[in-house]
Amino acid sequence: MKLCMIGTGYVGLVSGTCFADIGNQVICVDKDLKKINKLNSGISPIYEPGLEELIKKNFLAKRLSFTNNVKNAINASDIIFICVGTPTKKGTFEVDLSFINQCVKEILKYSKKRKIIVTKSTVPVGTGDKVEKLLKKKRKLFTLISNPEFLREGEAIRDFRFPDRIIIGSNEKKVFNIMKKLYSPLISKGAKFFTTSRRGAELIKYASNAFLATKITYINELANLCEKCGVDIEDISLGIGLDSRIGGRFLRAGPAYGGSCFPKDTKGLVSASNKFKVDLSLVKTVIKSNENRVNLLIQRVHKILGKKLKNKRIAFLGVTFKPNTDDMRDSSSLKMIPYLSKKGAKLSYYDPSGEKNEFKKIKNCSYKTNIKSNCHNADLIIILTEWDEFKSLDFKKIVKNTKVKIYDLRNLYNLKDMKKNKLKYYSVGRSS
Ligand code: UDX
Repeated sequence: MKLCMIGTGYVGLVSGTCFADIGNQVICVDKDLKKINKLNSGISPIYEPGLEELIKKNFLAKRLSFTNNVKNAINASDIIFICVGTPTKKGTFEVDLSFINQCVKEILKYSKKRKIIVTKSTVPVGTGDKVEKLLKKKRKLFTLISNPEFLREGEAIRDFRFPDRIIIGSNEKKVFNIMKKLYSPLISKGAKFFTTSRRGAELIKYASNAFLATKITYINELANLCEKCGVDIEDISLGIGLDSRIGGRFLRAGPAYGGSCFPKDTKGLVSASNKFKVDLSLVKTVIKSNENRVNLLIQRVHKILGKKLKNKRIAFLGVTFKPNTDDMRDSSSLKMIPYLSKKGAKLSYYDPSGEKNEFKKIKNCSYKTNIKSNCHNADLIIILTEWDEFKSLDFKKIVKNTKVKIYDLRNLYNLKDMKKNKLKYYSVGRSS
């Protein structure tokens, strides 16, 4: 099929490339000419394992192309995927739909023949109805459906190829068969194909992300209890996760959830429910609890190093919100590092995805190009992101200071081993 992906962020670029890889003709469109030029020279603007090779392969096979000419792209395609950003409006919980509306206006302006328009961007329930009103002048030309994406950064290609489910939301049944054909290579490998109303699909996306955020917040709060009552949170995660009704995934206690979706989508769901005069008090509590969690981590740093942090050397291992991405959005490091710098600590960090602009202006905070130079004279090492290369460190080799303390926010190490090596090791939900 001939597809057009409008927006080449994580969702548009990964799904466009993967759609091409299963045999479709795909044009990816973006206003950002710099990005388009990079893509046309085979460079991926986003850090996603395996993506650049897949882009090159499909670009060379002429199944995948990139342009900033939205008019040509729309008229060369039968199915148009809207994959533009839907950020949170500053200082509110509301979703900014300006990019969606801009996109719809261009489709309306340029389309000459029948199109299926697919909203893949995460949009509040009822957005499709509003968009349909914008299209009413050429109502006959368009079928507008919802097909939310569930890709995780760092695992996006695998998540596209082996999704748990494909959700199609439409008020016109006939379109389901076309989408089933498009996704048939994934369905034949076991992906569930689930159809519902358009509003149903819009809400499933938010409900899914808010539930996952709730699950993580729940285990993080239990971790606080475990630290006080002398239980290992890892036992709790495993013990409750063995109940098939709960499941073991997304039950890892950590610093706080971050990323471009959970913080945005939990707020977006609350905002949408407010419009229907429904109070989602549980999701509101999740948002508050997660935002407060970073303060708890900072209090713990004071407990470990003392009230006065002036000139204390603190080395971060990992600063991204999760491994296998360079994405810093809502990472706990964005609050911890500025705070510690203000308290006069001498900060350094190493992250496999490289130096971060976010910290270039932070006083006494230096980027190190490897683990050893980052940690060798630290008073405290904070493991914030569970990159593979942090999972089996020989601390005695990388740290000169025998009194060094380690605060492992991802529980990568076994308590007994750390005790045996006489390391002062602190972690999450486990009494050190
Ligand atoms: C999420 C959803 O998983 C995905 O389906 C949706 O399409 C986009 O948002 P993403 O934000 O890329 O994906 O990352 P994810 O792996 O879900 O992690 C989100 C946050 O939760 C990260 O900060 C991660 O560290 C944290 N997390 C995740 C935990 O703290 N514990 C866990 O067990 C799992």
